Amino acid sequence: MGGTAGNGLRRHLISLSDVDTAELGRLVRMSVGFAEGHRRGEPLSGAVVGIYFRKTSTRTRTAFSTAALRLGARIISYGPDDLQLNTGETIEDTAKVMSRMLDGLVARTTGTMRELRALGDQSTMSVINAMSALEHPTQALADLTTLMRRFGRLEGLRVLYVGEGNSTAVALALALSRFPGTKLYLRTPAGYGLDPEVAVQAKGYAAASGALVEERHDMAELPRDVDAVYTTRWQTTGTDKPDPNWRELFAPFQVDQDVLDSSPEAVFLHDLPAHRGEEVTAEVLDGPRSIAFDQAENKLYSAMAALEWCIR
Ligand code: CP
Repeated sequence: MGGTAGNGLRRHLISLSDVDTAELGRLVRMSVGFAEGHRRGEPLSGAVVGIYFRKTSTRTRTAFSTAALRLGARIISYGPDDLQLNTGETIEDTAKVMSRMLDGLVARTTGTMRELRALGDQSTMSVINAMSALEHPTQALADLTTLMRRFGRLEGLRVLYVGEGNSTAVALALALSRFPGTKLYLRTPAGYGLDPEVAVQAKGYAAASGALVEERHDMAELPRDVDAVYTTRWQTTGTDKPDPNWRELFAPFQVDQDVLDSSPEAVFLHDLPAHRGEEVTAEVLDGPRSIAFDQAENKLYSAMAALEWCIR
């Protein structure tokens, strides 16, 4: 398989901050195209893609495995205990070996972006970040696909994001802020906000595009008439929080019918998995304005777009 980065090197999708706005728009259009059935043949026929998940996953792992197969690639799946990384082999040596055999590696790691950067520090195997502690770029692709399919545009959309400034929020902020006139209102518990460097970066993108990224740590005076209300699980991948009293901090940030009704026309988004009764009530998640399960399906189309963009 040939590379497509324009310099003979394989593309990676490790952070959205590596992807310029034009290419991000192209990725979203590719994803919407897949959702609408515009697939021609098996563009990844002959490719072999590693699917390496060190953390639990239902949607992302299934989406990338299905996407690779639908595009004609073959896959090798690695669980958390399968690679010699566990017995002390370095990430650099792992990358050197895998890149001689695989065309792409989709990886959900447990650590920092450094690990993914080390995997991507070679030129023959694309590396796709399937969620790291800091950022979940392919979730944002699915989210933008969902908004695009629902509203027919991204420009000018207003989104209220309620909950932890986790990897989903980071990716959403880095993505939505590129599109003119968008407004992302984040309401995050104090001490659980966006990574400060990411906040600066997203606000920089917003300043350049005429968008807004605004973060506050309370639920007072919610913005009215947003297009979407988005929340996320309080314990990403089930991870405990060191503060034993974290639930008291998070409790006011539950999305219930009153929060959703603060914007009567808004749709409801959730990256899933959900815990009904924690970050969202069942009434909202299972209600008529929820498009969370369409959003989950869109992970398949965004995975197809990411794989084709990186590997074809
Ligand atoms: N939203 C998401 O990444 O879901 P999984 O953890 O199930 O992959």
